[in-house]
Amino acid sequence: MPETFDVAVIGAGPAGYVAAIRCAQLGLHVVCIDDWKDDAGKPRLGGTCLNVGCIPSKVLLESSENYERIQQNFPAHGITVQGLHLDIATMLARKEKISNTLTDGIAVLLRKNKVTLIHGRAALAGGGAPWMVAVVRDGADAQEIEAVHVIVATGSIPRQLPQIPVDHDRVVDNVGALNFKEVPKRLGIIGAGVIGMELGSVWRRLGSNVTLFQAHDTFLPSVDEQIAANALRIFSRQGLTFKRGVKFVSIKVSKKNVAIEFEDKDGISTQQFDKLIIAIGRVPNTAGLNAGKVGLKLDGNGYIDVDAHCRTSLPNIYAIGDVVRGPMLAHKGSEEGVAVAELIAGQASHVNYETIPWVIYTSPEIAWVGQTEQALKVAGVDYRKGTFPFSANGRAHALQETAGMVKVLADAKTDRILGVHIIGPFASELIQEAVVAMEFSASSEDIARIVHAHPSLSESFHEAALGVSNRAIHI
Ligand code: FAD
Ligand code: NAI
Repeated sequence: MPETFDVAVIGAGPAGYVAAIRCAQLGLHVVCIDDWKDDAGKPRLGGTCLNVGCIPSKVLLESSENYERIQQNFPAHGITVQGLHLDIATMLARKEKISNTLTDGIAVLLRKNKVTLIHGRAALAGGGAPWMVAVVRDGADAQEIEAVHVIVATGSIPRQLPQIPVDHDRVVDNVGALNFKEVPKRLGIIGAGVIGMELGSVWRRLGSNVTLFQAHDTFLPSVDEQIAANALRIFSRQGLTFKRGVKFVSIKVSKKNVAIEFEDKDGISTQQFDKLIIAIGRVPNTAGLNAGKVGLKLDGNGYIDVDAHCRTSLPNIYAIGDVVRGPMLAHKGSEEGVAVAELIAGQASHVNYETIPWVIYTSPEIAWVGQTEQALKVAGVDYRKGTFPFSANGRAHALQETAGMVKVLADAKTDRILGVHIIGPFASELIQEAVVAMEFSASSEDIARIVHAHPSLSESFHEAALGVSNRAIHI
């Protein structure tokens, strides 16, 4: 007889493991099945985010920023360093150690919450509330379990460029891009999106000559246009080279290099690279899930089709995280996990998709929540805006990080904040005040009347809010 659970969660990334823990907190009998393992075959929890995504990329961003700061920022403080040396092996080992610590922490959390953990590949095997889930494990017989509810959290995988398969040597995806054993002298990146900007920044700071190829002419199209234009200027000044509106004529991989022949506004040219990163987006991962056989509906782009409460086309089967519509962000998946767990337990719960923050961890960082100015224009919304540059903020000067600005967009009639956009130091932390403000339907006047500590970067948000009604003090 198969063991019966209240809930089977497939996938232990930030969507799945959070859903499993929340289900267990609510008294449900939960199994979580995940198939991730490292190169040595050791199971690792946390999915893309902890193993090859959010965490390792941020660790390398921090290391590389330290390296660049010592060279570029320290002299102005009267600090000079001699004999500066870059030890990539130590840098990569630190990244692995942090990922390991955090993935091990998830195992502890699941154990503490009495979630049964199975390492293996799960597929929907029929039934219908209760559902049968078949699990294939390395070196063991296939196992079937029964679950009244199933939460699918199988995540996403990198989108492939048909002309040029990833060979994990010269041509890599996000996994290889986190593990170059030496700094590539010439690094090409196809896709100037979030991964391109973050990992391009890492290797540029460490000494690579980085060129980013973008098929479209736009740059970071989901970012507010004013902020994106600012970003393009700043990142170009830092030394990243952008080739936009590019058509590839040929991409040839040899033992020595990758040669890219491309056409852009300047005509046809060829460039050689030591490494090439492909970062042209990610696609939902439903391979091997048996979706077709059990009748689980996918949408036209291959995502599992869900309603606003993450309910799929099949009764008692939910799907969350990167495998469903919406931004591919860890915190979005986690919040869907919490909401679904609470729904299963009979509570009312939902995710407010209007207030999900985005952060791009470049330097300066880019962060935003809510509507962009271009979206408001298209929707014909009457709005007012206030902006404030970090060059007029005392703390930013102390930090030596004066590039960038804060922008607040508010409804012209009601003054309710509709969007906040930041490019600047610690934008990832600053944006959270804006998220709270929007979640509580704050107006720009509410923020203008809140006391902000001095000197702090948050004063720039305060000033931008004051700017909505043309009464910023320090500009
Ligand atoms: P995943 O994390 O992909 O986890 C899915 C899990 O399910 C995996 O362990 C997988 O092995 C397992 N699985 C799949 N199919 C099966 C099956 N049939 N049986 C059993 N197990 C299965 N997001 C942010 O919010 N902030 C960031 O800073 C950030 N940085 C990123 C940097 C990079 C380089 C990348 C690639 C992504 C980054 N992301 C970031 C995105 C973030 O990693 C994803 O949004 C997040 O991991 C999605 O979580 P998930 O649980 O839906 O899927
Ligand atoms: P992306 O969608 O951010 O960017 C892909 C870029 O590639 C786009 O600019 C697109 O125009 C371009 N492109 C698409 N097809 C192309 C082609 N054929 N040739 C050249 N350019 C092409 O995707 P990316 O960078 O791969 O990241 C995937 C996702 O992972 C992100 O959308 C995000 O959801 C998540 N992520 C989040 C991070 C964060 O929160 N800080 C960091 C990294 C990734």
